[in-house]
Amino acid sequence: MDVRTFWLAGRPATGDSELIVTNPHDGREVGRHSVPTDAQVEEAIAAAHAVAGQAAALPVHVRAEALAHISRRIAERADEIAHLITAENGKPILWARGEVTRAVATFRFAAEEARRWSGSVQRLDTEPTAAGRLAYVSRVPYGPVLAITPFNFPLNLVAHKVAPAIAVGAPVIVKPAPATPLSSLLLGDLLAETDLPAGMFSVLPVANERAAALVQDPRLPVVSFTGSAPVGYSIADQIPRKHVTLELGGNAAAVVLADADLDWAAQRIALYSNYQAGQSCIAVQRVIVEQPIYDAFVERLLPAVSSLVTGDPADEKTQVGPLVSESAAERVEAWVQEAVAAGAKVLAGGTREGTSFAPTVLSDVPQDAKVAREEVFGPVMILQPAASIDEAYAMVNDSKYGLQAGVFTRSLDAAFRANRELEVGGVIIGDAPSYRADQMPYGGVKDSGIGREGLHSAMADLTYEKVMVVTGLSL
Ligand code: SIN
Repeated sequence: MDVRTFWLAGRPATGDSELIVTNPHDGREVGRHSVPTDAQVEEAIAAAHAVAGQAAALPVHVRAEALAHISRRIAERADEIAHLITAENGKPILWARGEVTRAVATFRFAAEEARRWSGSVQRLDTEPTAAGRLAYVSRVPYGPVLAITPFNFPLNLVAHKVAPAIAVGAPVIVKPAPATPLSSLLLGDLLAETDLPAGMFSVLPVANERAAALVQDPRLPVVSFTGSAPVGYSIADQIPRKHVTLELGGNAAAVVLADADLDWAAQRIALYSNYQAGQSCIAVQRVIVEQPIYDAFVERLLPAVSSLVTGDPADEKTQVGPLVSESAAERVEAWVQEAVAAGAKVLAGGTREGTSFAPTVLSDVPQDAKVAREEVFGPVMILQPAASIDEAYAMVNDSKYGLQAGVFTRSLDAAFRANRELEVGGVIIGDAPSYRADQMPYGGVKDSGIGREGLHSAMADLTYEKVMVVTGLSL
């Protein structure tokens, strides 16, 4: 197989070793890529640093057109890219196609936001001492962004870091997840088709152990990380003076209140606990159901789970595929077994075959079991009855995480109460917590992270406000 080059300061480059990427479904080789040397990593950092001033001064139309170009090219190559995502990540082609469609929108939104990104003016002659003075408030990039990206959305979660960086005029170095580097290298191909200056982007597929050199380098003042909470907070602790954005884990709750449409709730919860084999930070993990409808809900949920189509992720009909690796599936299995040993009941699934874990529903899970407290990142949900809406919302908040929560209800009052009381970054009314639109603010509270993605929010996050006061004006 050909060895894929990586992207070093806008040009293809070859290092002195290579790595093989395998398909989680069948273990076959998907591709191999060259690995940057330490000297090449240094070259990428130096280039990003050197070009930062030029990047920040790039006319908006250049940035916006580059972003629009990438959006169009992802759309043109959608089928090929979706198959690449499925091959390297193992997610069913159904979800890979959805991810590609979202990445098209992510770059398109970034192009649109770049054009709207004009700053604001403030009159200062509100006070007699400031007659004739006006403030122009603009946002300026902190500088080059180090984007450390996860395996679970190998294209769109890279897009969520690259697109806002380009939109604000910041160079970006991507360090993709070792399991899924090929989608971000392909994104590099599309970046290379634009008129962005050399040095504005690099894609460096290095091992996680080598990320520390990038994280600590003062020439990369922003680190944007998506991944697990322990890794995210250890990054933040290493670099207290840098600007850090952390999109971390969750154990998302879906609340089903007594007035909910139970058929809809059961279908959505079944699907979004298991989509991508549960490997999303907002996959449904905890299902909190008001007591009066608990049995009726479970009666609908179990058939919805058992009707999910599992199997080969390349098959258009498959809804649940493998996890990213056998060790990931083994960990999920161990956590389920731990819960069962402590008294949990298996209502569905609970079995592993290689990298695949069957869609699993557990009840009677002790509160201290890992499947209740930690992030499973696998196709496992736990059912928890709640005596009242107060208890249901308190149960949602009984978590160290706070990314998103879903509340199935028809009551406006219950919806606004959820928005007020739930300790999360996003409340989804009438659907699973797994809903995300790429333009909306996305991020967590508590151990789920710091900062927000979503194009406008991410652009604000990568920049600081700068004020210029003009004096002597006739206003
Ligand atoms: C995540 O896993 O945090 C991303 C979820 C999404 O973008 O849908």
